Amino acid sequence: MEIYVAKSAGFCFGVKRALNMAEKCAGESSADIYTLGPIIHNPQAVQKLEESRVYAKKGLSEIEKGTVIIRSHGAKLEEVTEAGEKGLKIVDATCPFVKKAQDLVSMLTDEGYSVIVVGEKDHPEVKGLISYGSSDIRVAESVAELEDMPRKKKIGVVAQTTVPMEKLEDIVAFCIHKAAEVKVFNTICNATSIRQEEARDLAGKVDLMIVVGGRNSANTRRLADICRSIQARTHHIEVASEIDPLWLSGAAKVGITGGASTPDWIIREVIDRISGLIPK
Ligand code: F3S
Repeated sequence: MEIYVAKSAGFCFGVKRALNMAEKCAGESSADIYTLGPIIHNPQAVQKLEESRVYAKKGLSEIEKGTVIIRSHGAKLEEVTEAGEKGLKIVDATCPFVKKAQDLVSMLTDEGYSVIVVGEKDHPEVKGLISYGSSDIRVAESVAELEDMPRKKKIGVVAQTTVPMEKLEDIVAFCIHKAAEVKVFNTICNATSIRQEEARDLAGKVDLMIVVGGRNSANTRRLADICRSIQARTHHIEVASEIDPLWLSGAAKVGITGGASTPDWIIREVIDRISGLIPK
């Protein structure tokens, strides 16, 4: 049996950077360190961080002192201000691509644009992005959500970094009819699309696909959906022990991929487990 692993499977640049910052913090301080929300959508990695005294908290009301790490998704501007007022040491691990989108929302707002953020309104990154705007800001994933929008003088558009390009294109096409001036910033990060293209490609070449990553990770679930649409024998797992040896039956080629929040060590364990199950 041959095992193929997608080239970019696992951590993206922003997640890797945030985890390195958290680990560095833990190494330099003997006090407890907190993250504003789980630093990564992967339960095993969050548990590993807890062993290094880095604890995920839901909000600032649960953190009284010490260090708070802002995860790669970023945080709301008011949370950053509140953390400062509380006297917490802030380690900002916001992904530079997300930071750039926050700065653009701020700039467009200052320049008098009505801002549209293309993305999911409940996603923490988007909640952070809109906090950099004024009351003249809207979030939409589809044109249907903007049907009631009155005509504007000028519209500025930015995107959640993980939104599919088609959604940005659709909304930009709609906005052109809603204002004389439309300024668009393509803030989509290609880490997601690269992983999706590789998964699509690999799923078409193998007899069995294993997608590794947190069930709470939207980007991993999306990878599993993509693979399943091409290869019915696709399984989404969080850890290697979930692999049922029967899955391998009759498979000559197995493909493995993982979301942007899947640690390398878990992918390695999956490779080892599959290798160990191959009949000698
Ligand atoms: Fe940053 Fe892109 Fe990852 S925005 S957190 S590198 S998916």
